[in-house]
Amino acid sequence: MKKNSFERVLMIVTVLSLSLISSVSRGMAASRTYAGVEACKMCHENQFKVWEASAHARAYDALPAKEKTDPGCLSCHTTGGTAAFPNVQCEACHGQGSDYSDMDTMKNFKKVWDAGLNRHAAQTCVQCHNKTSPTFCGFDFKTYWMEIMH
Ligand code: HEC
Ligand code: HEC
Ligand code: HEC
Ligand code: HEC
Repeated sequence: MKKNSFERVLMIVTVLSLSLISSVSRGMAASRTYAGVEACKMCHENQFKVWEASAHARAYDALPAKEKTDPGCLSCHTTGGTAAFPNVQCEACHGQGSDYSDMDTMKNFKKVWDAGLNRHAAQTCVQCHNKTSPTFCGFDFKTYWMEIMH
């Protein structure tokens, strides 16, 4: 009997602390927002030029007018799934930049990842380049990366 109630207390404590941890980390992630490509351009002029000339910079504009509000299209033709950040911007691959795009953080490799910079940008491609795209006709990382390398 004694052991049982001890286990119950332990379980409650565990559940409470787990939910606390998850709500704290959720809270931190939720406060992150997109900085927008103009903010990145300020310091990454060369990357910006490559991006500007790429299909990603026109992904939203390429949608027919009546599909510009269709969530099923916006998910891949915008940054974050809404027209607030149109086209496939830097942060669609590099992660929401509000917390990492200041000079201090950007220069610090450890900080930059804690602040939300995606260490695996190359793995994002297939989130959009896949069979659920109505125009999909295959994806090969090497070939496609050569087109947008920056
Ligand atoms: C205030 C200047 C500044 C702004 C604004 C800025 N960056 Fe940076 N960024 C830097 C500096 C400095 C470095 C480190 C040196 C380098 O690689 O050019 C860096 C590095 C990076 C790296 C390479 C990190 C790595 O792992 O090697 C990426 C990716 C990056 N920035 C993306 C972005 C994106 C996306 C934005 C916009 C949301 C942005 N940056 C905004 C200055 C900036
Ligand atoms: C379609 C996805 C995608 C987009 C859009 C994109 N990048 Fe990248 N970027 C990558 C990948 C993949 C790499 C290779 C390194 C890596 O895996 O993080 C990279 C590398 C970088 C680097 C590091 C370059 C180096 O010399 O190490 C910087 C800085 C950077 N990107 C900034 C930007 C900026 C600024 C924009 C927008 C103007 C942008 N990127 C748009 C996917 C993307
Ligand atoms: C958020 C969704 C998204 C991500 C992530 C993404 N792409 Fe794209 N990509 C698109 C869309 C949408 C287009 C079509 C844009 C247009 O033509 O209007 C496209 C077009 C391209 C094109 C032009 C070729 C063509 O068939 O039109 C290349 C090359 C490309 N992407 C490479 C990459 C690579 C490499 C990565 C990963 C590093 C990547 N993309 C990540 C959505 C994405
Ligand atoms: C799963 C991600 C995804 C979804 C969802 C998606 N697309 Fe795309 N779309 C892409 C990618 C990636 C490309 C680049 C070509 C390819 O490889 O499919 C593209 C290319 C296009 C192009 C060709 C653009 C050009 O410049 O030639 C048009 C038009 C288009 N999509 C319209 C739509 C419409 C309309 C919807 C909604 C009904 C939609 N897409 C939904 C990912 C997506």
